[in-house]
Amino acid sequence: MRCRKCGQKAVINMRQHKLALCKEHYLEWIPQQTQRFIEKYHMFTSDERVLVAVSGGKDSLALWDVLVRLGYQADGLYIDLGIDGGFGYSSESHALTVAFAEARGLTLHVVDIAGDYGESIPEIARRTRRGKGKPCSVCGLVKRHEMNRIARDLGYDVLATGHNLDDEAATLFGNTMQWAGGYLIRQGPVLPASPGLARKVKPFCRFYERETAAYALLRGIEYIYEECPFSVGAKSIHYKELLNQLEKDSPGAKLHFYLGFLKAKKEGLFVETKEEAVALLHTCPTCGQPTSAPGQCAFCRLVKVEAV
Ligand code: AMP
Ligand code: FES
Ligand code: ZN
Ligand code: ZN
Repeated sequence: MRCRKCGQKAVINMRQHKLALCKEHYLEWIPQQTQRFIEKYHMFTSDERVLVAVSGGKDSLALWDVLVRLGYQADGLYIDLGIDGGFGYSSESHALTVAFAEARGLTLHVVDIAGDYGESIPEIARRTRRGKGKPCSVCGLVKRHEMNRIARDLGYDVLATGHNLDDEAATLFGNTMQWAGGYLIRQGPVLPASPGLARKVKPFCRFYERETAAYALLRGIEYIYEECPFSVGAKSIHYKELLNQLEKDSPGAKLHFYLGFLKAKKEGLFVETKEEAVALLHTCPTCGQPTSAPGQCAFCRLVKVEAV
């Protein structure tokens, strides 16, 4: 197969785009497309400061690489969750993220959950009802809170995550299976800022996972290959497998599903209910983040932050 741009040997064939590219043109194509998505969805401008949440995985490190190459003011945030899983999942991903930042002279902020709050994610999970069984729900809550805290305290305009199309399509599939209207209306490339909450963007939401993986590999980015040890058996993984099956039989199905959803949303298929509109009207007296009920927010109750 030949590169559509130069006729050299192609390294990747994207059946859904009917596009094959050589290494050089692929490494150009990903940043060009990212720039196109940033503009199309009005994610941010070059005057704004971007905080990239980096997990040490291929998507978020590739995203940081691309944003810096595009000339954006992009700093990183790594949250050390204290997950071991028998192979040092957190320490390994931490080390890879630090090495990435140092090699490029980039600014990386690190939050150490056990250091700052006295317990790692698995420890908090073991102690609390929310964490019974698996720590993923506790972990998601803590990550969201900490990402928002750092973005707000350090004055970033926008928080970027490395979610790719496979992640987004799987989330969409799950939300649709449950007709979770409140989640559906908030899902998309941009979640606008609201009082106390930073704007959130997903510049890679239209790239297939294999496309971000190919970019990271071809760019020589060292990332952690292993998934979080707690992700085994997660529903999202099952949904990804189902969607991959669909994609195999009809290339482009995943993209079609996601873009069709965005179009339907834009045309008003989903309406915010009154309850959802007032959902985050209270302010946590301890951390100052918005919350749905009077009193301490779920994060502060979970990590037992003493009220001031
Ligand atoms: P996940 O929820 O693990 O699929 O990750 C989705 C996105 O959240 C990643 O692409 C990162 O942008 C961000 N993220 C996940 N884990 C971390 C972490 N430990 N520190 C900072 N950002 C993270
Ligand atoms: Fe949080 Fe797995 S439980 S990344
Ligand atoms: Zn080429
Ligand atoms: Zn709080």
